[in-house]
Amino acid sequence: MSNERNIILIGFMGSGKTTVGRLLSKAVGFRFIDTDTEIEQAGGMSIPHIFTYGESYFRDLEADVVRGLRSARKAVIATGGGVIKREDNIAALRSSGVVFYLRWPVEELYGHVKDGTNRPLLNVSNPMEEMKVLLFEREPLYVSAAHIIIECAGKRAETITKEIEAHIEEHSGHSRG
Ligand code: S3P
Repeated sequence: MSNERNIILIGFMGSGKTTVGRLLSKAVGFRFIDTDTEIEQAGGMSIPHIFTYGESYFRDLEADVVRGLRSARKAVIATGGGVIKREDNIAALRSSGVVFYLRWPVEELYGHVKDGTNRPLLNVSNPMEEMKVLLFEREPLYVSAAHIIIECAGKRAETITKEIEAHIEEHSGHSRG
């Protein structure tokens, strides 16, 4: 992979895309972009507030942000868990960099998000059940959107970051021939 290519993190809510993304951006010297933050800036309000206008309003803003990132270079990009719901998003992300899926068992994801309040999709009476349903629907999308799957079960953010770095170095080595 060329050193200019972005590093893109996808995965379910609670998979550590933002935490790992920040660590990775420091490690490789790329800037860090979080699509949720960009969406909040574009919409001029918080994610829960955007969702009060409906999920499709949020998805339209998300698609605009992702489209705008096609021209980004040397960035680590953390995406929202639902970015894979639109094919155009997947195509744009895959063409602008290497896409890593941070894959976790649902029990661990739940442990990471259960105290969070800023995820409107989990603001339901049984969030664990909702996570299982969403993950079942989305798992094949994450897998097909990813260039590389990182198995994260039981791992710390630092370990996951190192694994991604190792993949990047391996690819850079190949491209130098
Ligand atoms: C969403 C995940 C959230 C955020 C929004 C929708 C989803 O991002 O984009 O609440 O559909 O899974 P995180 O994955 O960073 O929590």
